[in-house]
Amino acid sequence: MKLRYFSHSAFQITTSKGKKILIDPFLDGNPTSPVKSNEVNVDYIILSHAHGDHLGDTLKIAKRCGSKVIAVNELANYCGSKGADVHNMHIGGGFDFEFGRVKFTIAHHGSQTPEGQYAGEPAGILLTTDGKTIYHTGDTGLFYDMKLIGEINPVDYMLIPIGDNFTMGINDAVKAVELVNPKTVIPMHYKTFPVINADPEEFKDKIQKSGKVCRVLKFGEEIEL
Ligand code: NI
Ligand code: MN
Repeated sequence: MKLRYFSHSAFQITTSKGKKILIDPFLDGNPTSPVKSNEVNVDYIILSHAHGDHLGDTLKIAKRCGSKVIAVNELANYCGSKGADVHNMHIGGGFDFEFGRVKFTIAHHGSQTPEGQYAGEPAGILLTTDGKTIYHTGDTGLFYDMKLIGEINPVDYMLIPIGDNFTMGINDAVKAVELVNPKTVIPMHYKTFPVINADPEEFKDKIQKSGKVCRVLKFGEEIEL
C-alpha cells in the first residue's frame, strides 16, 4: 500500500490491488499542494467534513473520474445533489468496501457546505486496507474518547492536525497521540495558511521524546506503508 501526502489534510492511498482513495482533496485552491485536481485519478473519495479546505475539489474529481464519495449522511446527500455517486454513512458506523473497511468517528469541529448549508457532524476516518489501519482524525480538538477509539481499533498510522487555531496545536496533538497509541504518527493541517504555521519538526521531536515514531512527509511525497 502507498500513502501520498499532497499537504494540508489531503492524502491518497493506493492499495496493493491498485485501488486509489483520496481523503479531503483540497488541491486547486491549496497554495501548498504540488498536485492539482486534474492530475489525480481515483476510485473513491472519503471526506471528513464539508469545509472548503477538505471538500476541496471533490465534486470536480468525482465527476471526471466517476469516483464514489464516502461521507456522513448530510454531506453525502449534498455531494449527491451535485451529481456525485455517493455512499452515505454516519459516525460510529463502518462498511466493508471492495478496498477495505471505512468507519467514521467523532471529531470536535464544525461542518458547512460552500453555500452555507449544515453538512452534518464532522468526522474522523478509520480506514483499514491491506491489513493496516489508518486513523485520519479530520479537523478536531483534543478529546479523551480518542483513547477508546485507539483501544477498539488498533491504529498503525495516525494522521493528525497540528496547525492550531482551527484544530489541535502541537501540544494537544502530542497528548492525542498518547491516547490513541498508534505505531506511527504523521502530522497534517499545517503551513497552508499563515494562521496555521506550525513546525512539524517541533512536533516530531516531542513525539520521538515520548518513544513513538513520527514521519514528516514532504508536500507531494509518497511512501510505502
Ligand atoms: Ni474544518
Ligand atoms: Mn481544515
